[in-house]
Amino acid sequence: MSDLWVRGGTIVTARETFPGDVLVRDGRIAAVVHRDGAPADFQWGPESIGESAPGGARRPVRVLDATGLYVLPGLVDVHVHFRDPGMTHKEDFASGTAAAALGGVTTVLDMPNTVPPVASAAVLADKAERAAGRAFVDYGLYAVITEDNLAELPAMAAAGAIGFKLFLGPTTGDIRAPGWGRLMEAFDVVAGTRLPLVVHAEDRDVIEYWQRRRAAEASDYFGFLNTRPRFGELSATLSACLLAGMTGTRVHIAHVSLAEAVDLIREAKEWGAPVTAETCPPYLFLTADDCQRLGVLSKILPPVRERRDLERLWEGLHDGTLDVIATDHAPHLDEEKRGKSWLDAPAGMIGVETMLPALLTEVRRGGLTLQQLVEWTSRRPAEIFGLGGKKGDIRPGCDGDLVLVDLDTQWTLRPDDLHSKSRNSPFIGTTFAGKVVHTTVRGRVVVENGELASHPTGVWLRGQPQES
Ligand code: DOR
Ligand code: ZN
Repeated sequence: MSDLWVRGGTIVTARETFPGDVLVRDGRIAAVVHRDGAPADFQWGPESIGESAPGGARRPVRVLDATGLYVLPGLVDVHVHFRDPGMTHKEDFASGTAAAALGGVTTVLDMPNTVPPVASAAVLADKAERAAGRAFVDYGLYAVITEDNLAELPAMAAAGAIGFKLFLGPTTGDIRAPGWGRLMEAFDVVAGTRLPLVVHAEDRDVIEYWQRRRAAEASDYFGFLNTRPRFGELSATLSACLLAGMTGTRVHIAHVSLAEAVDLIREAKEWGAPVTAETCPPYLFLTADDCQRLGVLSKILPPVRERRDLERLWEGLHDGTLDVIATDHAPHLDEEKRGKSWLDAPAGMIGVETMLPALLTEVRRGGLTLQQLVEWTSRRPAEIFGLGGKKGDIRPGCDGDLVLVDLDTQWTLRPDDLHSKSRNSPFIGTTFAGKVVHTTVRGRVVVENGELASHPTGVWLRGQPQES
């Protein structure tokens, strides 16, 4: 493969922003050059790093003109549901990873509530084999903890799981978690694998009880919210944090949606519990009033709440309590949701293609900086999942995963702009300020001028055990 020279853009990492060039060789960043203070006619080429191909021939170099563009590390989305195998009418590795690349996401971690669930090493190996040769971006695969697979957890870790997922509440796939007694044991087993444990923190008992009691009220969004009392998410979050502190398991709380959950997580971090947390664009951009207006297509779990929650989630990101923004890309076809009741409709919306444009738009509005965007969507998620030094940064040695964005283009999202098999996005009709122009994965240009430009070359990222 030729070298890639990304020339003349503004490079943004979590730490700094500067005019510069990036050279990628054999898939990895070989050099990053600051143009600050360089003469106007400065030219920099692969020869300047003093290497040539065997035999003395100059290596071929592909130049990607980044003039007027910002060059960010590709996004690392630690929460996607690509539905493959078992629900490939909703999404598959090819469609999901194509949408990811077009959204500037170069690494995805795929959730295990596929069919069959990734509850054994054999199923994990089978899923990895299915993904091979079909993904446009790099991917990790989660393993799930069920009521009766504790003995399988070490084997799934050895087989390459990127981490574990625990569904404490009922959601797509309805995979039941062990009770709290056995969960104490499960956390110890996970601690032994030194992989992170992602927790869907909603309490099944609270939800099932109030769904029965209040089913008749769930005819609108506010009635539906009453079937999932805030206490359910908060008690599950608190218990998961307690067990993280007591067992040393690295717990990552998925899709935080409540103001008080931010406070619980802040306190857990203060005790020294090894807890990290994520929130997702729907919780940062929508409120219950929007869901009431959008209808049942906007159902996700946990549900979108009030404006005060949205505000506290942003504060939680800014004060470091929340570490990550991930998409929870959860495709279902429109016809599977439309016409159903709030209780019966499947939960989930897509997100891999719109997270970056939505956040860039927020950057333009002054809600966050580009460096914070990189921190929350790329550097920090890579670090939490053992991919630091490889993903999430622009420095020599890292993979050549880059997204080049244009902050000056305004565009309005239409269903046909989306490449997922589901078009269920709350952002349809939204005018974004900021567009993905090019995406590279390990130095290969996968998206060029907003179009898919490569065959699938994504690779499987095996889990990296880490100390807490
Ligand atoms: O809205 C959701 N959709 N929340 C989940 O926890 C699961 C996901 C899905 O897989 O559909
Ligand atoms: Zn999810």
